[in-house]
Amino acid sequence: MTLTRIDIDLPEHQLRETLVADAARGLLAAAKTCPPKYFYDQRGSELFEQICGLPEYYPTRIERRILTRWADEIVAAVPAFTSLVELGSGSSSKTPLLLDALYRQTPAVSYVPVDVSLHALVGAVGALRDAYRTLPIHGVVRDFEDPLHGLPDLGHRVVALLGGTIGNLDPRTRAGFLADVAAGLSTGEGLLLGVDLVKEPRRLVRAYDDAAGTTRLFNQNMLNVLNRLLDADFEPDRFDHVAVWNEEQSWIEMRLRAREAMKIRLGSLDALVGFEEGEEIRTEISTKFRRESLERELEAAGFGTRGWWVASEDEGCAGSAGDYAVVLGVRS
Ligand code: SAH
Ligand code: TRP
Repeated sequence: MTLTRIDIDLPEHQLRETLVADAARGLLAAAKTCPPKYFYDQRGSELFEQICGLPEYYPTRIERRILTRWADEIVAAVPAFTSLVELGSGSSSKTPLLLDALYRQTPAVSYVPVDVSLHALVGAVGALRDAYRTLPIHGVVRDFEDPLHGLPDLGHRVVALLGGTIGNLDPRTRAGFLADVAAGLSTGEGLLLGVDLVKEPRRLVRAYDDAAGTTRLFNQNMLNVLNRLLDADFEPDRFDHVAVWNEEQSWIEMRLRAREAMKIRLGSLDALVGFEEGEEIRTEISTKFRRESLERELEAAGFGTRGWWVASEDEGCAGSAGDYAVVLGVRS
């Protein structure tokens, strides 16, 4: 019996077609944007793994700490839970903490990792197959914009989005996404979110603008992806990396700022796009949450909040509301 498979629902040519449409919308608009899924080619996924280990980038460390301490409690909070569906699974490096806890409850465990990056998925599935010889793993390469539609349904599910990925969706997209996940789940199935919390802006900005410049390289790498998929001629070094805290929207914005005026050819669109000196492309938002408003959003989408686990970098700091949270919603 084959326990491991990877389906490709999103071949590279389709990603390219989507990018042509996204780019026409985003890069040719007055305020330029490009969606974050185009960060994650092979090099982008590798750079993201490096970001996760940076001293300034606390979310990965703290999320790992929360899962290490409370995975058993999290798993036990969803009775009959057997199948973990992970959206934007990347390297799946924190997933074993959940899988181990699940195995302590039941032998009937299965895992469905979903990611746009085939490279990341192949790496993750290979490592997990070696570590869990009897675990059925059914990976799927695709965009989680249409979250559960057509995904393998291997048991009583918890859908996980770790690493703050839910915060990369703008509020309207996020509401639609949560409603779509809810629509795809049955009563009693779960949604597990790793979310970064509002804190001192200086710390937030540093997490997205590190001293070693890894986040700069990650951000600039999107231009390499655009060059390849759009037949464009961006020179990444002619753009500065910018990370700013938007207080009103409660999110960090990542941008690429043109150092000088330039014209870029977008071959696939048969278009030229002009940049003035200082003009920016917004490449990512990373929303920072507050407990009450997130619970309201979950409620509106059809999830009751069953658990909220927090931790801080400095556990000694009394009275702190926590730096990062793992939140469990259950489909009502
Ligand atoms: N969950 C991992 C990785 C987070 S990085 C962690 O906690 O460390 C975000 C991941 O989501 C990347 O692996 C990226 O390839 C994937 N991703 C981003 N946008 C996506 C989309 N629209 N559909 C599917 N996967 C996406
Ligand atoms: N989900 C991650 C976050 O919001 C993604 C991320 C981390 C990221 N560092 C980044 C995206 C730097 C763009 C640039 O924290």
